[in-house]
Amino acid sequence: MPTFRNPRANRPHLRSVSITGVGSYVPERVLTNADLEKIVETTDEWITSRTGIRERRIARDNEATSDLAVMAAQRALTAAGITADQVELIIVATITPDMQFPSTACLVQHRLGAHRAAAFDLEAACSGFVYALDVASHFVASHTYNTVLVIGAEKMSSVVDWTDRNTCVLFGDGAGAAVLQNRPNAHGLLTTCLGSDGGKASLLELPGGGSACPASVDSVTKRLHFLRMDGKETFKNAVNAMVAATHEALNRCGVTVAEVKCIIPHQANHRIMSAVAERIGAREDQLFVNVDRYGNTSAASVAIALDEAVSQGRIVRGDLVLMVVFGAGLTWGAALIEW
Ligand code: ACO
Repeated sequence: MPTFRNPRANRPHLRSVSITGVGSYVPERVLTNADLEKIVETTDEWITSRTGIRERRIARDNEATSDLAVMAAQRALTAAGITADQVELIIVATITPDMQFPSTACLVQHRLGAHRAAAFDLEAACSGFVYALDVASHFVASHTYNTVLVIGAEKMSSVVDWTDRNTCVLFGDGAGAAVLQNRPNAHGLLTTCLGSDGGKASLLELPGGGSACPASVDSVTKRLHFLRMDGKETFKNAVNAMVAATHEALNRCGVTVAEVKCIIPHQANHRIMSAVAERIGAREDQLFVNVDRYGNTSAASVAIALDEAVSQGRIVRGDLVLMVVFGAGLTWGAALIEW
């Protein structure tokens, strides 16, 4: 059994927060590297060797982020053994909301029939799920709500420039969800550390459609409604930030890397994950990796991976699980959980 310090222990007025159910959903349509060879000038060999991605899921035209989110949420509620009317708050982490407003979380609230729930979206790009876990945990810990539903959901295919081989090969669609509740006699979420650096916002951005650059013929002509990225700089910043966030989370709890059963890094690129593992001294077999099948699903990435790790038996009760993320903003974070 790993030993650890629970940072909440010296704040007895706070309750512990456990993840009591997880679920995920990915669209049926598979887009392989061979399919991409027909769309842009690329090869399966280039994509696989640079990223580890072999295929990704692409939502139907009439399938929006909220549709993916609802499917994942229903599975998480079932896994937690609760019904939608028990949910008191829904947070959807996404950078591909169905529309500018209302929030995707409100659309999900209605579709689930979560009549008692407040709902809002949270935007922290690929770090969104860990940011949302952190926010949600405070509502449960402070006795404000007993049951919070956290969802990471993205239709990245709607913001990818399918003429840009630098980016279109990297992303996919999907959703993952978790139910947060107080479970007596369990430690649950031990700590979360978050960070940001808006000074590097331009490394990864989607500039069009907001108040700074409203949609216009000009913005469409300049392709400002698609994401764009400086891949090399993003790569370096991702590794540095994920290493630092890991050390901070583990140090806070007095845990060594070797004591962590399963490390779930943001599924952006296998080389980023390997570089992080090497720098923190983790074995490859401690990492959970599914980027080969889904590509980078942004805020959904670690949520889908967590669900798969649980359903595959890679995580069992009592294990220490580390989620570590990085994304546009820049944003980053880590969450250490006793499962
Ligand atoms: N197929 C073939 N060639 C390509 C492709 C492609 N799909 N994309 C780019 N290239 C070419 C470029 O045009 C460039 O050619 P040039 O040298 O003639 O100009 C060349 O490949 C660049 O190759 P490398 O330098 O080897 O590329 P690199 O090793 O930097 O890999 C990559 C690029 C995969 C994007 C990498 O920088 C990366 O993974 N960055 C992190 C980006 C990321 O994951 N972002 C996700 C969002 S943030 C997050 O989630 C963490």
